[in-house]
Amino acid sequence: MPREIVPKIAIVFWFAASVACLDTPEFQRNLPAKVIWGVLGKDVELPCDITPPIPSDNFKMVFWFKDTDGMPLYSLDARGGPLGEASHLAMSDDLGSRSYFIKDEQPSKARLRIRNVTIHDEGVFRCRVDFDNSPTRNFQVNLTLVVQPSAPRIFNAEGNEIKRNSSAGPFLEGDELFLSCQVTGGRPRPSLTWWHNNTLIDGVVDSSETSFTIVNQLTRRHTPRSFWKSHLECRASSSAIAGDVVRVVPIVVLLKPNKVKIVTPNDLLSIHKPQNVKCETSGSYPPAKLTWLLDGKPIRNAVVTEEVTDSFTGSIISLNVVADNDGKDLVCRANNPRFPGGSLEDRRQIHVAYPPKVSVKLDSGVNSPVKEGTDVTLRCDSSARPSPYGYRWYHDGHLVALNESGGVLPIDHILTLKSIQKKSQGQYACFATNTEGGSYSSPFDLIIQYAPRCKKGYEVMRVGIVKHEPLVVQCHVDSIPEDVRFSWTYNTSKGVFPVLGAKMHNNGGVSTLHFNPSTEDIDSLSCWATNDVGKQEQPCLFYIIPAETPESPRHCILRNASHGGLEVACVAGADGGLHQSFVLEVNDVTIPSPPPGVTTLSDQGEAKLLYRALGDKPMFRLHSLHPGREYQIMVYAENAKGRSEPPVLLPSVRVEAEIPADTLHETDTTTRPGSEGYPSSRQNLTVILVALTAAAVLLIVGIVATAVTIACRKTPAAARRQTTRRKSSDDLEMSEAGFSEGFQRRSAQYRASMYGLQETEDRISRLIDGPDLILAPVSFSQQNSEY
Ligand SMILES: *[C@@H]1O[C@H](CO)[C@@H](O)[C@H](O)[C@H]1NC(C)=O
Ligand SMILES: *[C@@H]1O[C@H](CO)[C@@H](O)[C@H](O)[C@H]1NC(C)=O
Ligand SMILES: *[C@@H]1O[C@H](CO)[C@@H](O)[C@H](O)[C@H]1NC(C)=O
Ligand SMILES: *[C@@H]1O[C@H](CO)[C@@H](O)[C@H](O)[C@H]1NC(C)=O
Ligand SMILES: *[C@@H]1O[C@H](CO)[C@@H](O)[C@H](O)[C@H]1NC(C)=O
Ligand SMILES: *[C@@H]1O[C@H](CO)[C@@H](O)[C@H](O)[C@H]1NC(C)=O
Ligand SMILES: *[C@@H]1O[C@H](CO)[C@@H](O)[C@H](O)[C@H]1NC(C)=O
Repeated sequence: MPREIVPKIAIVFWFAASVACLDTPEFQRNLPAKVIWGVLGKDVELPCDITPPIPSDNFKMVFWFKDTDGMPLYSLDARGGPLGEASHLAMSDDLGSRSYFIKDEQPSKARLRIRNVTIHDEGVFRCRVDFDNSPTRNFQVNLTLVVQPSAPRIFNAEGNEIKRNSSAGPFLEGDELFLSCQVTGGRPRPSLTWWHNNTLIDGVVDSSETSFTIVNQLTRRHTPRSFWKSHLECRASSSAIAGDVVRVVPIVVLLKPNKVKIVTPNDLLSIHKPQNVKCETSGSYPPAKLTWLLDGKPIRNAVVTEEVTDSFTGSIISLNVVADNDGKDLVCRANNPRFPGGSLEDRRQIHVAYPPKVSVKLDSGVNSPVKEGTDVTLRCDSSARPSPYGYRWYHDGHLVALNESGGVLPIDHILTLKSIQKKSQGQYACFATNTEGGSYSSPFDLIIQYAPRCKKGYEVMRVGIVKHEPLVVQCHVDSIPEDVRFSWTYNTSKGVFPVLGAKMHNNGGVSTLHFNPSTEDIDSLSCWATNDVGKQEQPCLFYIIPAETPESPRHCILRNASHGGLEVACVAGADGGLHQSFVLEVNDVTIPSPPPGVTTLSDQGEAKLLYRALGDKPMFRLHSLHPGREYQIMVYAENAKGRSEPPVLLPSVRVEAEIPADTLHETDTTTRPGSEGYPSSRQNLTVILVALTAAAVLLIVGIVATAVTIACRKTPAAARRQTTRRKSSDDLEMSEAGFSEGFQRRSAQYRASMYGLQETEDRISRLIDGPDLILAPVSFSQQNSEY
């Protein structure tokens, strides 16, 4: 029996004991407490399970106590009826008024809601649940307020803090990005995360569990373009209800251009006008600068129009190209000046339309130098875009026409000259045309080598022979190369023989032969020359004829010379086989006006030789004519055989204009031997009158007077001879006396003047032996004589 009583006593004791110790602090300390986090100013719910331990049992009462307060702050009494009608009783203090017990559908989820939590609400709450039959239950809840961490601080890689309102960076696209976010404090220990565009990008805290400061370092190996113009967020969160403490940091990201393109179609560019080429770039921040390069060099002096928006840059260049730019690269370079290495370029090869640049070349198949008789092909090499569509060929400035029979074939850029002749020598140029224009090549000198041939005008000559005189014959040939060898032959009735043992002097294309004809019946001499190309085909011929006097000059005209004075010009006649020269004689045929008191009868019609002029050509100039006087002019030719007959007589002339004083003066003193005749004729007249008077009076006196007269007449002649001796060599031809004496001599001079000076001297001294021989300069024969 006592065994049954013991449990009963134990239960009663336990009940009593439990009731007794339920509200003691000791009891409360031992009760496990569930931690509930509350946030200042927000509502919090403290759970209290009111489920009866036995289903049949019923919930009776709930009491809420806080901390060690003996008085409940809230109660719910269901003793009078069902739970729904239970009465709520909040104590009239602040906390009680903000509290309300929520009976849930599920009794296990019943809870006390406290509105607008204050700092004083923090503490340990006890919920005591009484049932009808089951024993009372107690639950403890530890309400703790959440403490937000400090505002996050952001630091850059250098450890410098990013201040509020300022942004982080700049970061280079593709480069590393580093930012560190730090918070201190916070209960519970907060989480620290990095966000971009509401996407978590780093949720790993880098500091240790125990450190006071919580750090999250954001590291990006390659800063993505998507970070451009955006911001990052560092969020510190202690509790979801409390919300995050957020720090937003704008970041500056520099972008390199990711697109650059020359958008204008790559058409042919003309050199004649500037053309717009457009380039566009995008993707750069700040906007890229566009630069243009041509053939690796920046383009200068070009008009460039720019268009810049946020990250787009457009550039239109007004491009002036030259022919040399053809095939070169045009580069459009986009460069972000703030981004080291942040440049991108587009390049294209440009094609420039330009007029032809042409040059004439000998075709590679042609041997140079070109020899007569070979076929020659000239090529007109051109550089042009587009290709030339037309060619023309020029020879010495004349258009070359197609002549198939003549072997001249200008076909497009090829000029073929078949079996080329010397006359095709000269300067060749070609002209090519395309859409951009046309241009001439510089002249190409086509030199044609050819065998010697007689120089024009020297093919057939007549050489006069003078008995016992050696023949001097000159042969003139043309050839390229000019280096020639000469050989001479002569024809007799017996045949053709080479000239041997004669003196031959060769100088370039001229051979001078000194030949002593041994046989009398020699017909002709032939001169042959040979060079590298070949032998002369036709010899230069010299017919040997007996020397004759020359023919008279023909077609003489008298005209006003361009610089004043008069000019006489004739055409030379045949020279009779010898060198001929020309003589001009001027006579004064003025009818003198009678001196006062003297009759004029005796002088009427008398012509006085004023002067003679000698020239290598029948051309003369007269300066020294006196105005108011009348002159007779006569021209004839002379050679070693004699003078031409009859002389050409020109119509008489009268000069009206005054001759300049210095010319007159010179003429009076040196070149007018005839003027000396005036005192002579006046004296003459006086003498006749005196003689007539004397004869009438006395014969002896007359004889004496006659003797005196003769003496007087001789004096001027003697004086004249003296004058002659004083004359210089230049005046020689103008002197009447010198002329008549020097006739033979000077003719020889002219024959010789075409030879060397030494030879001239030799020859003349052999021909003539005169005491006052004066040589004319060798060059004299080449110019017109002027008087
Ligand atoms: C919460 O309490 C504070 C002070 O205790 C008070 O200023 C505030 O108005 C209350 N808020 C609400 C919503 O009752
Ligand atoms: C309540 O909970 C907090 C946080 O866990 C703790 O620091 C505090 O000591 C607790 N208070 C009591 C009375 O248990
Ligand atoms: C931050 O910027 C805002 C507006 O841009 C300005 O009103 C504010 O004063 C700035 N704060 C600081 C600390 O510079
Ligand atoms: C932010 O994210 C949304 C959705 O993920 C996206 O549509 C939007 O383009 C993003 N914005 C930026 C600036 O990346
Ligand atoms: C063609 O060339 C030949 C030989 O040189 C010449 O005789 C002829 O006149 C030329 N024809 C024309 C049309 O020039
Ligand atoms: C020279 O003689 C040859 C033969 O005797 C003859 O054929 C030729 O015509 C002659 N030439 C001259 C220029 O007389
Ligand atoms: C020379 O010119 C003059 C006037 O200047 C003129 O009277 C004379 O007829 C001209 N003589 C000749 C030959 O032309």
